[in-house]
Amino acid sequence: MEIKKVGVVGCGLMGSGITETCARSGYSVVVSEINQELLNKGMSAMKSSMETGVKKGKLTEPDKDTALGRIKGTTKMEDFRDCDLVIEAVIENLEEKKRVFATLDKICPQHAILTSNTSCLSILDMAMATKRPEKVIGMHFFNPVPVMRLVEIVKTILSSDETISAAKAFSESLGKAVIFAKDAPGFIVNRLLIPYLLDAIRMLEAGIATREDIDQGMGLGCNHPMGPLTLLDFVGLDTTYFIACAMYEEFKDPLFAPPSLLKKMVTAGKLGRKSGKGFYEYKK
Ligand code: CAA
Repeated sequence: MEIKKVGVVGCGLMGSGITETCARSGYSVVVSEINQELLNKGMSAMKSSMETGVKKGKLTEPDKDTALGRIKGTTKMEDFRDCDLVIEAVIENLEEKKRVFATLDKICPQHAILTSNTSCLSILDMAMATKRPEKVIGMHFFNPVPVMRLVEIVKTILSSDETISAAKAFSESLGKAVIFAKDAPGFIVNRLLIPYLLDAIRMLEAGIATREDIDQGMGLGCNHPMGPLTLLDFVGLDTTYFIACAMYEEFKDPLFAPPSLLKKMVTAGKLGRKSGKGFYEYKK
């Protein structure tokens, strides 16, 4: 199946990164937000990321302009009517995602593949909100999307082989490597990453080491590009808390139980880079 036009629902951190990556790979993209203000914010994030890409020699100025010209921002779901593949990247709330899938199912052409960028929620639940569950899968991207080279493709027990192979070919056309996982919370990467991040918080909480030494330990000792506490600030403490709660709810394994320091920091609005404060402080 040929994919020409892509839809992205949500133009936040992940939605804008996915839109940018698709447009830079030659696809026409429609991206939606719930209001014009959020849409403008996402559009300027993409522009500034592409300007960084130009400065870093990853694309030329004319390529940047062409890519920006391929993106249509909208606040109307009807604009997804001629998309061949749609990637949902709205807030991590299953009811909201089910609503989005039910709406897309009514609007999109019959051949369209509907995918979710969720980090941990059930793809099957989203698939069952449509009349085309065989065409619904997970496509999990990583932040920052234009830089990170992976897509996790998540198969449900109803996903068809045709859908999986079309999504694989599409992901590879974006320059991404593909791995496959079953529809289990956290898939592959977050199933391993979240317990590690939570353990780093527990280590700090227990006073075993300073935040700097924990981060330097994994940075210099294991060559990780970011130590766990820096990575937590980067991913967002609210996002991590949400994923941990969803995984704990499913597995009931203390490995996934959010430490009380994480909960307190989220309650206090210390969400990481996005709020200017997390384990570290960030200047605007
Ligand atoms: N467009 C294109 N390329 C860009 C770019 C842009 N806007 N910005 C940066 N790049 C390129 C740079 O040119 C550079 O490329 P080369 O390696 O070819 O030179 C590369 O990206 C790295 O960029 P920088 O040198 O500017 O920055 P850095 O070396 O400090 O790396 C980082 C920044 C990539 C974010 C790195 O710190 C990193 O990999 N951190 C870990 C990120 C991570 O783990 N993400 C996953 C989070 S988990 C998740 O997302 C899933 C979930 O569900 C929670």
